[in-house]
Amino acid sequence: MKLSVQSNSKAPKTCDFHVLLVCQNKNLTLKETPYEKETKTIIDTVIEKKIFTAKKGETKTLFGKQSVILVGLGEKEKLTPDTFRQAIGTVSRLLESNKSTNASITMDSDVEVTPRDVQAMAEGFEMGHYSFTEHLTKKKTKEPITNLIFCGLKIDKQDQEAALNKGLAIGKSVNIARDLANAPANYLTPTDFVSKAKKHFEKSDVEIEIIDHKQAEKAGMGGLLGVSKGSIEKPYLLVLKYLPNKDEKPICLVGKGVTFDSGGISIKPSSKMSEMKADMSGAAAVFGAMSAVNTIGYKKNIIGIMPLTENMPANNALKPGDVITISNGKTVEILNTDAEGRLILADAISHAVTLEAKEIVDLATLTGACLVALGTVASGLFSNSDSLIKTFEKGCKNTGEELWHLPLYEQYKDLLKSDIADISNCYEGRFAGASTAAIFLQEFVAKTPWVHLDIAPTMSNGKSSGADVKGMSGSGVRTLIEYLDN
Ligand code: BES
Ligand code: MG
Ligand code: ZN
Repeated sequence: MKLSVQSNSKAPKTCDFHVLLVCQNKNLTLKETPYEKETKTIIDTVIEKKIFTAKKGETKTLFGKQSVILVGLGEKEKLTPDTFRQAIGTVSRLLESNKSTNASITMDSDVEVTPRDVQAMAEGFEMGHYSFTEHLTKKKTKEPITNLIFCGLKIDKQDQEAALNKGLAIGKSVNIARDLANAPANYLTPTDFVSKAKKHFEKSDVEIEIIDHKQAEKAGMGGLLGVSKGSIEKPYLLVLKYLPNKDEKPICLVGKGVTFDSGGISIKPSSKMSEMKADMSGAAAVFGAMSAVNTIGYKKNIIGIMPLTENMPANNALKPGDVITISNGKTVEILNTDAEGRLILADAISHAVTLEAKEIVDLATLTGACLVALGTVASGLFSNSDSLIKTFEKGCKNTGEELWHLPLYEQYKDLLKSDIADISNCYEGRFAGASTAAIFLQEFVAKTPWVHLDIAPTMSNGKSSGADVKGMSGSGVRTLIEYLDN
């Protein structure tokens, strides 16, 4: 697949489909279209009869001498990069189902685009026609869309091409994260995850360090080892290092990698337990982001840290009431073995602190409570740094990944008091579950500026729409890249 640009808006004759993006307007008429006269007449009729009104998300496919897809963007004043991302996401699926191999994309004269919008369109294009077919014996035959030509955008050609390439890299990385999260837990154990990383980053500028259970023991990673005890699968701390600068402290991206969370001895109810194959979505996002970091070629030192384990019940599993010691020396009383994510993150974050991280961002499908609080619309944003909160909140406008800032009141720490250890791993009451989990993590960041994203709410898409595809979402990749850009 190739994205290219053409300076004039005249639709190339070689294209089998033409996409026109249109803003909603009370008296919608198209001043000019880049198409042949009879095609314009058909489009004018469809608009005149209000068959197409350019509402956000609306599409109309017209077949004629020239086949056209009209795409509504909604009101001009409300355009964001995400409007374009979602629109092109839908377009990519429509082109695919119409077996297009070569399509043009043109904006109505009313529509203004920025390079960030162009980047978002490439992201949406890659994301929109994603599917997870790994385990289907009869795979749907897919005609790949070979060529997509952006016509007549009023942006310097080189800037357009750079934005498209960056968007493609990010879209691909989102799909990498989706592939990992969609993978069944019997196909993606911690060992499989590590193998995939080895293969993926083999010929890249990313160096791989694999801390296995023996090294984890030496380093005293009682959180990671404790959680993994009940599983036959060995745990790993996977570290991906992208270090273009000698003497610069790294930014550390930490992702929860529980390849299956049964809850352990505090076992979960069976309904929807299958979704817990995606309890490694944080690690998947970090893997995806590191892949984009390598392709885009950042000039910063960036390290991805992924604690990988299963959380299973067994005779030798961690038990409620047990006490474990995290690698930074803190002791934790386990009240509920299903609050396992924070235990492995405690070791991973402590590792980031020993690497002298300049900033730490962790992503984790950490709490059902966050999902209860926010629904599936936004991830929870927690931080000890006001300026990082601003950076991430600002980023949402570009990424379309909503984040909602939730509190880290000191009082929550009282809820984690243990009689026999430094801290307990959870608050057993019903309230503020997302914040008490975040407060637990804060115990391990020392003074490092830190952001915690609870991505449990946005882990999956219930249906396909725009750039979103039903299944695991690849949540967090775009947010991480946007953060690195700033
Ligand atoms: N992986 C779950 C959180 C989760 C729930 C993610 C739903 C995605 C969808 C996590 O390990 C967990 O089990 N958390 C517990 C914490 C509780 C025991 C304090 C929860 O949220 O119930
Ligand atoms: Mg759990
Ligand atoms: Zn979990």
